[in-house]
Amino acid sequence: MPSKPLLAKTSQILYGGDYNPEQWPESVWEEDVRLMRRAGVNLVSLGIFSWAKLQSDENTFTFEWLDRGMDLLVKNGIWVDLATATASPPPWLSVRYPDVLAIDADGRTYYHGSRQHYSPSSPSYRKFAALLVEKIASRYAKHPALVAWHINNEYACHVHNCHGPASTEAFRAWLQKRYGSLEALNNAWGTAFWSQHYYDWSEVFTPRKTPTFVNPCQQLDFQRFFSDALLELCKMERDILRRITPDIPVTTNFMSFLKPLNYWDWAKEIDFTSWDSYPDPLPGQRGDLVASMGHDLTRSLKPGRPFVLMEQCTSHVNWRPVNATKPPGSMRLYSLQAVARGGDGVLFFQWRQSIRGAEKFHGAMVQHAPAEKSRVFQEVCALGAELKKLGQVTGSLIRSRVAVIVDWHAWWALEMPSKPTEFNYQSSVAQFHRYFYENNIAVDFVTPDTNLSSYALVVAPTLYLLQEKDAQNLDAYVRKGGAILVTCFSGIVDRDDNVLPGGYPGYLTKTLGLWVEEWFPLGLDEKRIVQFGKGKKLSARKWSEVVHLEGAKALATFQEGYLKGRAALTRNSLGKGEALYLATELNTKDLSYFLDALIRDIDIKAPLSVPTKVEVTLRENGKKRFLFLLNHNKKPVRIDLKKNSGLELLTHKKIKRQIQLPALGVAVIELD
Ligand code: GAL
Repeated sequence: MPSKPLLAKTSQILYGGDYNPEQWPESVWEEDVRLMRRAGVNLVSLGIFSWAKLQSDENTFTFEWLDRGMDLLVKNGIWVDLATATASPPPWLSVRYPDVLAIDADGRTYYHGSRQHYSPSSPSYRKFAALLVEKIASRYAKHPALVAWHINNEYACHVHNCHGPASTEAFRAWLQKRYGSLEALNNAWGTAFWSQHYYDWSEVFTPRKTPTFVNPCQQLDFQRFFSDALLELCKMERDILRRITPDIPVTTNFMSFLKPLNYWDWAKEIDFTSWDSYPDPLPGQRGDLVASMGHDLTRSLKPGRPFVLMEQCTSHVNWRPVNATKPPGSMRLYSLQAVARGGDGVLFFQWRQSIRGAEKFHGAMVQHAPAEKSRVFQEVCALGAELKKLGQVTGSLIRSRVAVIVDWHAWWALEMPSKPTEFNYQSSVAQFHRYFYENNIAVDFVTPDTNLSSYALVVAPTLYLLQEKDAQNLDAYVRKGGAILVTCFSGIVDRDDNVLPGGYPGYLTKTLGLWVEEWFPLGLDEKRIVQFGKGKKLSARKWSEVVHLEGAKALATFQEGYLKGRAALTRNSLGKGEALYLATELNTKDLSYFLDALIRDIDIKAPLSVPTKVEVTLRENGKKRFLFLLNHNKKPVRIDLKKNSGLELLTHKKIKRQIQLPALGVAVIELD
């Protein structure tokens, strides 16, 4: 089903950036809009950090400057993604209402003087944020510039927890709702261990500084609570906005795999997803790969709807030890990659580079150098002109036959301390995503309770925490003909981080046709040889374990020591499908060897076979199909299009049989 355009007023690719006119005299604003028009900007995110300029005390609001900004923009054909301005409370607020300030686990306060210093559970923050949103929404509800709402900014970007009195109270209330009784909490948290039994709710705290390991379920619940507490704030703002402007879509900018926020819950509450992408341009950092994973996550969070790349940089950031500058041409390539992977908007942080404050050395669309003489601005204008040619791509979607399971509860629980070894959830997920990215196989991220019937292959990397109902969902998917690949240390605990005894991996033993008796984690430099049948030897690392087969067949076995001859990789035929299990971690090259064979078996293919480091995606909208080809090589490549032909939209040329792409070149072909 084709999706609707993101914004009612346009079917253009959205193009622009964060605009902070309050940092500049109004004489500069005229020049800004002139340059915006020149660059093809059609959308700016306005007022993100404007609270202090908009409100000087409890009752005094100053909107006139913002009125003038909004009027000027719309007069020049530029729409506004208007911020609710709640991301950085003004100093007067935290001085008069100190409960606004967040407090860390050691009891130290985050003060104003930077940004995002608020406690999510502070009654004063909530009260004044709600008031501000109400005022802004009422004032601009009918303004012709307004096309979207930008709630807050990058929730939990800097502050990942709060342990102040209001947060402690809110945590208790959250637990009361979850468990109903202290008895249920004591049971879930396993408080018989280390004398932690609670007799009264007032004894329960957020996980503050302790001599050694904090109760794991207490920590896990705190992570859940914190994500929910910020989401409550976001919903509070959203409800005000929807009441006053029911037709204006709302978003808040995500940050890809941001551990503190369970974005699956968040995405349900907003109208379209957007994210901020800052891959490191330093050579060797594989920024394209990192960005592709963020695009795929942001797209997957809201199936059936394109996303917006809300922020990226034109040139360089200011917050790494070395802030490498994107080489000429790569900003365009990264921007078109966002579109190729399902984005309908390409925006930057920020429009005009600051000359004061902590971000004055962060690149922008208009840099410190005179705009008209700047390479960056020329590239910005050229990109704006190109995006105008891609309007018909908007609303088209990506169809994936492969899914990788991502679950925040499993992530939080897995990375808590006192485990058999140190796992890194994101890198386990990334190893699989990388394979599909590099092989140009479209891949979605999904939760373990997703209806998986449209996928031919589902991968579950280290799904340490797994609820019974979700395990049943995976089992049913396999029985109906799906293929699943589960990797080691999955299905170990239930939702409360309590172990399922009687053989790992708990609820998945029947699905996988095996059980695991004990683990032999490997040292950092230790390797194990794993042999495929009688053939190829692969290199395994990090983990090994004793697998007992109960129906599954070994595809590969460990070759050394006590585990010699025991299964390292298994396959279980179940109903119409198959469940595979990897009892170790393979290095990336060897994982590819195995996955190549697996996808051949399942008949999963890239849309086109191309030279290495050429990215291929397909966006579809009803009968329209758009083939994106992105050359990440520093040299030209020739691509054999096989039987495909069509109109290349950036050059408006008919293409048949083959196409030549320059270094960092991109083609978007509307297929015949
Ligand atoms: C983002 C943030 C922006 C700006 C940018 C710099 O995290 O939303 O306001 O600070 O980083 O890279």
